[in-house]
Amino acid sequence: MRVLAWWRVLAVVAVLAGTCSGKVFTKCGLASLLEKTYGLNRDVVKRFVCIAQYESGFNTKALNVNSNGSKDYGIFQLNNQYWCLDSRGGKNVCKMACSNLLNDNLSDDVRCARTIVRETESWKGKGTGFTAWAAYVTHCQNRNLDVYMSECWRSG
Ligand SMILES: *[C@@H]1O[C@H](CO)[C@@H](O)[C@H](O)[C@H]1NC(C)=O
Ligand SMILES: *[C@@H]1O[C@H](CO)[C@@H](O)[C@H](O)[C@H]1NC(C)=O
Repeated sequence: MRVLAWWRVLAVVAVLAGTCSGKVFTKCGLASLLEKTYGLNRDVVKRFVCIAQYESGFNTKALNVNSNGSKDYGIFQLNNQYWCLDSRGGKNVCKMACSNLLNDNLSDDVRCARTIVRETESWKGKGTGFTAWAAYVTHCQNRNLDVYMSECWRSG
């Protein structure tokens, strides 16, 4: 039927439009955005880039379910139990919808990630903020992140 075919086309278009709002960054592309657009210093940028690589593969649409049923959203895999709000009804410390962590605008992701660093330091102590991410502890903490970033920051 003709009508049915049109609805199918619309459905496909809707799915594709949804897909387009996410993005997979390159390592150096993300580093440059964090530094130039969001004004983070390189000491912070290299940590967030490493976290993004091992948490999401730089994919803003990454959405994973943990073994305890909570979900991690976006490029930094922020958890719905504490940081953002979805149907689970968590604490929502960052005061934002988790779904906003899946688009290609990182301003809210960066804001919330900085909140997490700050909150973590407030109870774990100075210098511990990034250990909120398991991937940071496993892949980034004991690594020379200047070497890791050298392909992006040749002169520095
Ligand atoms: C559920 O798992 C996530 C990811 O491992 C963790 O951040 C969170 O603290 C866990 N929640 C509880 C209540 O154990
Ligand atoms: C990203 O979102 C913020 C607010 O959430 C907004 O101020 C900003 O203009 C957006 N950036 C782009 C490129 O759309």
